[in-house]
Amino acid sequence: MSQYFKPISISLSPNVEKDDLKLALKLIFSPWRWIKGRAVSQLEEEFRKYLGVKYAFSFNSGRSALYAILKSLNIGDKSDVLLQAFTCNAAVNPVLWAGLNPVYIDCENNYNLDIDDLKRKITKNAKILMVQHTFGCPAQMDEILKFSRDNNLILIEDCAHSLGAQYNGKKTGTLSKAAFFSFSRDKIISSVYGGMAVTNDDELAKNLHSIQKEFKHPSYLWTLQQLLHPVLLNYIILPIYNFIDLGKIFLVLSQYLGILSKAVHKKEKKGERPFYFPKKMPNALALLALNQFKKLERFNEHRRIISDFYLKRLQDSSFILPEKENNVFLRFSIRHNLAHQIISYAWKKENILIGDWYTTPIAPDDTNLRKMGYISGTCPNAEKLSKTTLNLPTHINISLKDAERIVDFLLTWK
Ligand SMILES: Cc1ncc(COP(=O)(O)O)c(C=O)c1O
Repeated sequence: MSQYFKPISISLSPNVEKDDLKLALKLIFSPWRWIKGRAVSQLEEEFRKYLGVKYAFSFNSGRSALYAILKSLNIGDKSDVLLQAFTCNAAVNPVLWAGLNPVYIDCENNYNLDIDDLKRKITKNAKILMVQHTFGCPAQMDEILKFSRDNNLILIEDCAHSLGAQYNGKKTGTLSKAAFFSFSRDKIISSVYGGMAVTNDDELAKNLHSIQKEFKHPSYLWTLQQLLHPVLLNYIILPIYNFIDLGKIFLVLSQYLGILSKAVHKKEKKGERPFYFPKKMPNALALLALNQFKKLERFNEHRRIISDFYLKRLQDSSFILPEKENNVFLRFSIRHNLAHQIISYAWKKENILIGDWYTTPIAPDDTNLRKMGYISGTCPNAEKLSKTTLNLPTHINISLKDAERIVDFLLTWK
């Protein structure tokens, strides 16, 4: 019965399996394990080993990790940070919070940084270049590395989408001075909130270590809020999601009442900082992340299988398909002139929640672009892509049968 009301969904706790649910449930009843414990350093150690880097520092989000990196670099206030449009305000806000100035570079049709536009837009004041491996597709690192060396820029990788992706045999996150990862709800692995900063640079690591020590732990209440997320979504909200919209109402109400968190706080849409950033990673979320991290290879192999299926079945369709090479396909992003209409139709008629990353050059769409320092028209391709992009789910809870239903629906669009 619940199958009927439960949508095929790209988001809403996508990576969670039975063992994750059991763990979250157990943790809810073990408050003494919420804040401090050994899981935090274990997660850092596992991450360090996996990437083959010298240092890894955990935080309660990619946002906190990026903020810590920016502060640790000790560059002057008001320096420019070059970063691409077609991104989330979560990648921009730490730049603003650190007192730095974002300068937006357009993206190519593969959603990654446009190097020609970078050459045009570099400023005298630019000290940092942040490169995003969008949707899990590695950016053109050879050219980017050369450009940053030639122009004395500190290179940071935004690996929020790309855990496990490789460029020329090297894992993303190991190609720059510093990188950060995200374990938030819709990412490659998820602990609802969580992030990691990594580096091989001794000096930077020393600063990151001090800053991590300075940051406080999040509160018990905030940690509980995150632990409730997989449990309420999977046991209550999703099974009745479409039963006279009961699940949806329950979700909105829980977020309104603060029982569940939102991915982005309303303050962040105006460039402001909510009280729970920046913070350390709490032990309970590190435990959730460790459990997911064990499954990383299987998750990404599943993403590859589902993406291969989409690539094959949509080959001769009216959709423009993504590049396959080295892509871990956090989401399988395609383009169509009627993208937004297709997303809305899929939801209303087919009970399929297709992804809409991103519908504006800095998402979500109610973000105040002016407060983000973005001037309309300066990244025309990012603006164009945001009108024509839709993303298909690849996560572990999407079966080939689900993928087939999605494809059958898409093929009805000419
Ligand atoms: C491209 C990008 N960078 C950075 C972030 C920030 O990660 P987090 O949600 O863990 O703060 C996100 C996610 O929101 C993202 O999509």
